[in-house]
Amino acid sequence: MEKFYVTTPIYYVNDLPHIGHAYTTIAADILARFNRLMGRRVFFLTGTDEHGQKVQKAAESRGLSPKEHADRMVLNFKRLWKTLNISNDAFIRTTDEAHKAVVQEVLQKLYEKGEIVKRPYKGWYCTPDERFWTTKELEDGKCPECGRPVEELEEENYFFLMSRYQEPLIDYIRKNPEYILPETRRNEVLGFLTSRPLGDLCISRPRKRLPWGIPLPFDDGFVTYVWFDALINYYSATRYLAPDRDVQWWPADHHIVGKDILTTHAVYWSTMLMALDMPLPRNIFAHGWWTVEGRKMSKSFGNVVDPEKVVEEYGVDPFRYFLFREVPFGSDGDFSEKALVGRINSDLANDLGNLVSRTLTMLQRYTDSVVPEPSGVEEEAKRLSEGILPMLQEHLNKLSFQRAIDEIWRLIDYLNKYIDTNQPWALAKRPEDRDRLSTVLYTAVEGLRFIAIYLWPFIPQTAERLYRMLGYERFEATLREMAQWGGMRPGTKVSGPEQLFPRIVPKRGEAKVEKSGERKEETGGEGIIEFEDFSKVKMKVGRVVEAERVKGSKKLLRLVVDVGQRVQVVAGIGTTYTPESLIGKEVVVVVNLRPVTLMGVESQGMILATGQDRDIVLITPERDVPPGSTVR
Ligand code: MSP
Repeated sequence: MEKFYVTTPIYYVNDLPHIGHAYTTIAADILARFNRLMGRRVFFLTGTDEHGQKVQKAAESRGLSPKEHADRMVLNFKRLWKTLNISNDAFIRTTDEAHKAVVQEVLQKLYEKGEIVKRPYKGWYCTPDERFWTTKELEDGKCPECGRPVEELEEENYFFLMSRYQEPLIDYIRKNPEYILPETRRNEVLGFLTSRPLGDLCISRPRKRLPWGIPLPFDDGFVTYVWFDALINYYSATRYLAPDRDVQWWPADHHIVGKDILTTHAVYWSTMLMALDMPLPRNIFAHGWWTVEGRKMSKSFGNVVDPEKVVEEYGVDPFRYFLFREVPFGSDGDFSEKALVGRINSDLANDLGNLVSRTLTMLQRYTDSVVPEPSGVEEEAKRLSEGILPMLQEHLNKLSFQRAIDEIWRLIDYLNKYIDTNQPWALAKRPEDRDRLSTVLYTAVEGLRFIAIYLWPFIPQTAERLYRMLGYERFEATLREMAQWGGMRPGTKVSGPEQLFPRIVPKRGEAKVEKSGERKEETGGEGIIEFEDFSKVKMKVGRVVEAERVKGSKKLLRLVVDVGQRVQVVAGIGTTYTPESLIGKEVVVVVNLRPVTLMGVESQGMILATGQDRDIVLITPERDVPPGSTVR
């Protein structure tokens, strides 16, 4: 059986986990889940980096020993991984005795091979970053990485002769285009390696200056440099934490890291492995950073996002979904509650949630929630559903999570449209269309089965819930076996409709009126309202002065409408109208709706229209009237 080994960085225990840590770990979780579903043996490793100066300092400031401090801090990470449904197979701590033994074994081997030597060393030391810089590397006499002051230190130290591997590494990266991804980062690493001589790496710290580390096996006056110790975790874990010890776990398939720690992985770790004559990992992937509402995330701005809080407020799956749908993996992204709520409302509540509830509502109404026998196979639905699997494989192999999600959404959009076009509610009224109705309902519910399976790596809790709603207990076969059209057995009892994702009303509001362009399910009975209810709705004639598509959406347009004053409205009419065709048009706008944000864009009103999808018709005044005229 094929194996799949994926890692996250091991996180420093000097701080509480935040959105950045969650991001990398969920990415690895998606890959691990997908590969398990593909029937591979998976080892998904995460953990904590517990040695070094930063941790020692954090412990001192709390009046604890470094180990006591780490023992406490590690719980925050473990708890968060539970909250986020992280399915790691092991959790490594660099203070594990077994890890320390492997680090010492590696050091001894390199020392005996002549890859590590002792040398006097003079340089500029940045205490917070725990590293030396040469005079040339300093920027304005300060640390080029963090901009803080440095101090000149001279001491004897042990060096790993990394410079020997400059050429072999350049060669390796050139010959293996997928070793470092994304490509822009690969080019940066190559640029760095080819533009200057690669120095040797100081891998020890005198014990008297920094006692908190793994002693060098050949000189106990020194401890190991924290990065040298930490990087080895990826290998040491295969020796004592991996499941199925009979599997050859090394080399890893993917090391997922943030862009800030790419050099340590691409250069230090790669050359360490070369010196050890060990194979290099298949891929190192550097993802981008999250800012928060346009600003760098930092304690001093008070804008550090606590994933526990986000999950408490919005649920785990919306958070997981948002992080991987919002920006391509590799690029930087911006987190805001507005953007998150926009995604929940448009993608999860409207597209996915609506599809599930309307399908199950119809089954309840027309077949007593029993899956009907179809009278034929809808070839297009079958082709689309089955065709997603190879696309998922291709995209996830390159860690293109966003594209993978897009593929699944194509099926969701298709099924919503399929229901709109086939109008099961109309078929149900005509006895001669009974067979057709069965086929349409079967197609919708079978499509949902594919969606549940495909979504599982991304939003496992929702996927499992949906799968149960469809009458299954758990995924019992491999993805390849399950992704065959016709898996849903006629006669299966499915559950009644449930709301998967309630629409979120932005904090201060009670905007319960649906935005224009969002799908509205037929409900049958019309509720009678009083005149005073109606008169609460303020409508005006407006002229469209600006129109453009909302990035990433086929349906949504951002319009600026002159209703006496200018208001911005997000309207779901983009499948019928092009932005250009709307400029100058008169429309009717509901102007006193509580604003909501859709896909990151604020909508301050609603435009009246009828029809749906490609057949939307705007309601306009019969003759030109001045913008701002009240509609009654
Ligand atoms: N201990 C080292 C890693 C050793 S791996 C052998 C370390 N730890 S860390 O806790 O500081 O950071 C871990 C990860 O969090 C890094 O991949 C980093 O890129 C990521 N992030 C920290 N802030 C981030 C954002 N604002 N956005 C996205 N990821 C960010 O480095």
